[in-house]
Amino acid sequence: MAIETVGIVGAGTMGNGIAQVAAVSGLKVVMIDLAEASLVKGMATLTSSLERLVAKEKIDAATRDAALARIETSTDYQHLANVDLVIEAATESTELKVCILKQIEASVRADAIIASNTSSISITALASTLSDASRFVGMHFFNPVPLMPLVEIIRGLQTSDVTVQEIRELTSRFGKSPICVKNAPGFVVNRILVPMINEAFFVLTEGVATAEEIDAGMRLGANHPIGPLALADLVGLDVCLSVLDVFAKDFGDPKYRACPLLRELVAAGRLGRKSGQGVYRYE
Ligand code: CAA
Repeated sequence: MAIETVGIVGAGTMGNGIAQVAAVSGLKVVMIDLAEASLVKGMATLTSSLERLVAKEKIDAATRDAALARIETSTDYQHLANVDLVIEAATESTELKVCILKQIEASVRADAIIASNTSSISITALASTLSDASRFVGMHFFNPVPLMPLVEIIRGLQTSDVTVQEIRELTSRFGKSPICVKNAPGFVVNRILVPMINEAFFVLTEGVATAEEIDAGMRLGANHPIGPLALADLVGLDVCLSVLDVFAKDFGDPKYRACPLLRELVAAGRLGRKSGQGVYRYE
């Protein structure tokens, strides 16, 4: 089966980014969210990202217009009835994802593939809540989706070879590079990246240096494109915290304890760029 139509559940940062990449790659897209307002916001973000790519001459205006014309939005799961693949990109909560995946499975064709963009939740555990776990796979994109070349393809214990192969081919059509990884908390990238971000919050808490100095240190001393605290703001402090909480629970190792400052900022609603303030303030 060649994947030609993709459903995306969740119009937030990751969902609208995935929708953009899929539409630019020539696929028809159905983007679903609970609220019409979230869909409007997601489409606005996606449109301004396409504008930036046109302004930088990475794509032309005709490609932008064709991509936008391929995207349909809806609050109704019934619109997923004819898609070949659904990518779930909702908030990082097991209960919520299980509920959404059940609704997806009840709405799609029996041969459609279902993928989750989870950054840390067990693909094997999510798969086991579906009646056909062999068609379920992890497809983990990185933020900002239009720019980041990697997709982690995560194989749950039950995922079939055919499913992995289809997703591998699609990832290449998206112009992205896949790595295939086994199911494990945080997979590969977040297992390494998020503890580094957490450590930056401990360094900040201890007053070893200011946020700007910590970030400059990692940019200039380790050649990272942005510092770990600015990266936390980009990823979302709530996402970083939920990844750490999954690590703490699943590994049972205290080294993954979330920094209290990170927890405090999330409790205050300072989630990073998306809320206008995280470690830093944004216009
Ligand atoms: N859409 C289109 N273009 C965009 C864009 C978007 N969403 N965001 C940025 N750009 C473009 C800008 O227009 C700019 O273009 P030019 O270089 O042609 O001028 C370019 O990207 C650089 O943007 P900025 O100057 O604003 O900022 P920057 O130099 O800091 O680059 C970045 C931005 C590419 C995001 C860079 O900071 C970077 O690579 N950061 C690290 C990102 C990263 O590590 N992501 C992984 C996060 S972990 C994750 O996502 C997984 C998880 O589950 C938590």
